[in-house]
Amino acid sequence: MSSVNIGVLISGGGTNLQSIIDSINDGYIDGEIKIVISNREDAYGLIRAERAGIEALYVDRYKYNTEKEYNERIIQELKKRDIELVVLAGYLKVLSKEFVDEYEGRIINIHPSLIPSFCGEGCYGEKVHSMVLDYGVKVTGVTVHFVDEGTDTGPIILQKTVDVKDNDTVDSLKERVLKVEHEALPEAVRLFCQDRLTIKGRKVIID
Ligand code: GRF
Repeated sequence: MSSVNIGVLISGGGTNLQSIIDSINDGYIDGEIKIVISNREDAYGLIRAERAGIEALYVDRYKYNTEKEYNERIIQELKKRDIELVVLAGYLKVLSKEFVDEYEGRIINIHPSLIPSFCGEGCYGEKVHSMVLDYGVKVTGVTVHFVDEGTDTGPIILQKTVDVKDNDTVDSLKERVLKVEHEALPEAVRLFCQDRLTIKGRKVIID
């Protein structure tokens, strides 16, 4: 498989984006990030992209009348660059049905818990870790999954566990989980670029 054209959608700091950039640079991922798109103008991930010589684009949601039109613009930008894999790296907007249909089986998301726990509508970022601590679970982790029309409901590619410590705070837990995210997401992208992922119903088979 020739090098895969990757588009990355972000909303924030972009440390997961950075992990993909670094993994491409050291040859771990056989792909090329053609564009990074953010719905937030102040997303530090846009600066990370520019520093890496990658086209970085802020698309202002308020210039569009509907979510559908906003998603259509993003699809347009992705198509212009023949994107074959879309990675949601801390992208906080829900994709439209049209978007998911257009890129079915080619959209990967990372979530900072072991889905189906602590996920779904409104459950993202630090809120996830706060719920984990409030519940008192002993193990949390990260999930990388294909995106379907639901929120955090698509077929799971990889999961990695992170032990919860008695004295953990949201910040200390977030830091440890983020480190594991930076291993899991590049691993899943690598497998996709090696064409080693097969979706069978709710399962993802790794060849
Ligand atoms: C990560 O915790 C990721 O799991 C979640 O949003 C956060 C993004 O962090 N989806 P960053 O912008 O990649 O640093």
